[in-house]
Amino acid sequence: MEHKKLTPFPKDFLWGSASAAYQIEGAWDQDGKGPSVWDVYTKLEGTTYKDTNGDVAVDHYNRYKEDVALMAEMGLKAYRFSIAWSRILPEGRGEVNEAGLQFYDDLIDELIKHDITPLVTVYHWDVPQALMDAYGAWESREIIDDFDTYCSILFERYGDRVKYWITLNEQNIFVGLGYRDAIHPPGVKDLKRMYQANHIANLANARVIQSFRKLVPDGKVGPSFAYGPAYPFDSNPDNVIAAENAEEMNSHWWMDIYVWGTYPKSAWNYLEKNGLAPIIEAGDMDLLANAKPDFMGLNYYQTGTFEHNPLEGGVGAAKMNTSGKKGTSKDSGLPGVYKTVKNPYLETTDWDWTIDPKGLRIALRRIANRYQLPVLITENGLGAFDTLEEGDVVNDDYRIDFLESHVKEIQNAISDGVEVMGYCTWSYTDLLSWLNGYQKRYGFVYVNRDEDGPKDLRRIKKKSFYWYKDVIEANGLVDRN
Ligand code: BG6
Repeated sequence: MEHKKLTPFPKDFLWGSASAAYQIEGAWDQDGKGPSVWDVYTKLEGTTYKDTNGDVAVDHYNRYKEDVALMAEMGLKAYRFSIAWSRILPEGRGEVNEAGLQFYDDLIDELIKHDITPLVTVYHWDVPQALMDAYGAWESREIIDDFDTYCSILFERYGDRVKYWITLNEQNIFVGLGYRDAIHPPGVKDLKRMYQANHIANLANARVIQSFRKLVPDGKVGPSFAYGPAYPFDSNPDNVIAAENAEEMNSHWWMDIYVWGTYPKSAWNYLEKNGLAPIIEAGDMDLLANAKPDFMGLNYYQTGTFEHNPLEGGVGAAKMNTSGKKGTSKDSGLPGVYKTVKNPYLETTDWDWTIDPKGLRIALRRIANRYQLPVLITENGLGAFDTLEEGDVVNDDYRIDFLESHVKEIQNAISDGVEVMGYCTWSYTDLLSWLNGYQKRYGFVYVNRDEDGPKDLRRIKKKSFYWYKDVIEANGLVDRN
């Protein structure tokens, strides 16, 4: 629908930016921190681009004051960051590391001092290695108690100052890449194990939401889901069914559980027939049905386009582009369910991700209509090569174009009636892109480091920094001409 007049952004709209502990903090073993699975996995040869890791990352742990000062200069309203579980509990359970707690205390206070609302993610993929060694982390129900204990420590310690909490970041991605594609820890290729670990993560998520209600009764909580709306390639009903399959298997499988505590029917049926359905124990469905989030966190990067994929001879999994060499990724699929296909209407990034701002409006509408929840956009951004020019200048007009077109579609969605709480770009400073090293940059602030080493880690404001500053000040898009 077209609107004669667009609805303005709400007055208290959270113009923010986001990060994750492993991707920025560095200080991987400083002040009593224990190793996470990422500290170990990245040291295995060939697992990441040019064997990069987050040992130093962008050293935010030691430079957080400088980073927050830059956020304040920009006028940022909200900052989403994650807490490293193994900084708080080096062994994942048991003894608490006070120095770790203190670091986040200081960070939160520094943000509040500058009128920046903290949005805290309790889990952004870095489960303590000790729990992986002890019982296989998400594959054991033991993690439900341990995760609850860890989160309750955070709720009790920071709940007075932090009112917005994100539980699991992109559960679909960390279980998919970890247990189906074997490109994230623990590097497993086993769908049965993936669906079981995923079910356990659902239970852990639900339990933590229940604890949250008691410990932070005036706070808001929700997961961050990586949602890429599925499009059919064309109106051929076979392709429409393929897109329906993708929507159900790749998105509703998670979001329906978060909001309603139910698994979608056809997906469940498919998994059961293929011997892949998770084992449900007594009490599971009851727990899942009683942990509704306050909002859906949306990480939006791209849409996917799908067509029919025959059961016999159909396309299977394919390698991802982790080099930035455009056009190197291949179509992938699930035989008998769907396969991806190039969308002729969309350009792509150098990493072959579709650039589709309208897809964000579609995502917002689909979530709001299906689940009747407000949406907090917890990630959206462009991974690109940036060039540091003479005089410490980065002219990232492509990033401005990307973000601007997405902000425009958010306003369209708001005008459609969607309640959008805020918008966190990915990311604030440049950071480590898990599998893509440091060359795939996302930030408003350039960090002078690369795959060969940390250099001087100096912070440089990119052109997009000033653009976002203006948007925040105007509480909406500004005319750039
Ligand atoms: C999301 C994650 O999947 O996308 C982030 O929550 C990640 O941690 C971001 O960095 C971009 O992905 P990538 O692979 O380009 O770093």
